Amino acid sequence: MTELQDLVDQAERAFADVDHAAALEDAKARFLGKSGAITALMKELAQLAPDQKRARGAAINLAKQAVEHALQARREALAEAELTSRLTAQAIDVTLDGRGQLGGGIHPVVRSWIRIEEIFRSIGFDVADGPEIEDDWTNFTALNSPQNHPARSMQDTFYVDVNDARGQPLLLRTHTSPMQVRHARAQVRAHAETSPGMSTLADIRVIAPGRTYRVDSDATHSPMFHQFEGLWIGRDVSMADLKGVYTGFLHAFFERDDIKLRFRPSYFPFTEPSAEVDMMFDSGPLRGRWLEISGAGQVHPAVVRNFGLDPEVFIGFAFGSGIERLTMLRYGIGDLRQFYAGDLRFLEQFNPA
Ligand code: PHE
Repeated sequence: MTELQDLVDQAERAFADVDHAAALEDAKARFLGKSGAITALMKELAQLAPDQKRARGAAINLAKQAVEHALQARREALAEAELTSRLTAQAIDVTLDGRGQLGGGIHPVVRSWIRIEEIFRSIGFDVADGPEIEDDWTNFTALNSPQNHPARSMQDTFYVDVNDARGQPLLLRTHTSPMQVRHARAQVRAHAETSPGMSTLADIRVIAPGRTYRVDSDATHSPMFHQFEGLWIGRDVSMADLKGVYTGFLHAFFERDDIKLRFRPSYFPFTEPSAEVDMMFDSGPLRGRWLEISGAGQVHPAVVRNFGLDPEVFIGFAFGSGIERLTMLRYGIGDLRQFYAGDLRFLEQFNPA
């Protein structure tokens, strides 16, 4: 019987030696297959005498069952090991940090835009909005720059290949000043619908922030840029009011009081007198330098007339400031093109996680 026991031991060792299911089936064939060792013993039974046959047969059967039992145990162990290793490989570590969602951020120029609206609303200005594709009359003529006026070449214009009702090509607005015309005319029209004259017209106080376009591109100019227009038309609104409003705005925008303002005589067709507004910080890295930030002036009587108002009665000021420019000064940004390069390393600084 030790011979059968040896065979069972051999089979157990052979099964233990394999480490995957296919190899186990090969090992099985060597013992239980058609020409396997156990099968060979069964075949030998035929040559034995009947009384020997029974005892021998029973013994071989026991050995066969032992081999089958070992085979089954090994199968289960291998399947178990395979499952475990697959689960380990596919394991999800639920304690790891999530990848998170890349949240959008607010562009620094838009952040300034929002702040500018908040500041002007807080002192009673409306906020108006209008088309970026503008007609020639509103962008130029109504603002006292008739056709062929040399002042038109102050701004290099992108034209659109479509004519308006007056037969003039549409254009990308070169400044937000056409919003003076649109907003003032809309106020005047709305007032005329309910009241007989303009004597009860409330002051027109508005800012109009938005995109503007010029054929221009370098470190301080982009073909698309942002301005906000300011307009205050009333009955005794002066350049002194402009200075007061603009100084208050700068203090709020830069969140500091050590700012000086200077009005430098200039020329715009739609204001008279006209000024460039310069500012200076009294401290910090830009200390002591005059920085140009805005065009401004008293609205020209011809423009007031185009608003639909009598310039003998209505007077006021307008200004147009660059939002990129103010943003660069607020954050100390040297190159305007950074705003439009789409570099997340730059943009993320304005949206801390
Ligand atoms: N529209 C002028 C510009 O873009 C700025 C300006 C606005 C000047 C209003 C005076 C009054 O350069």
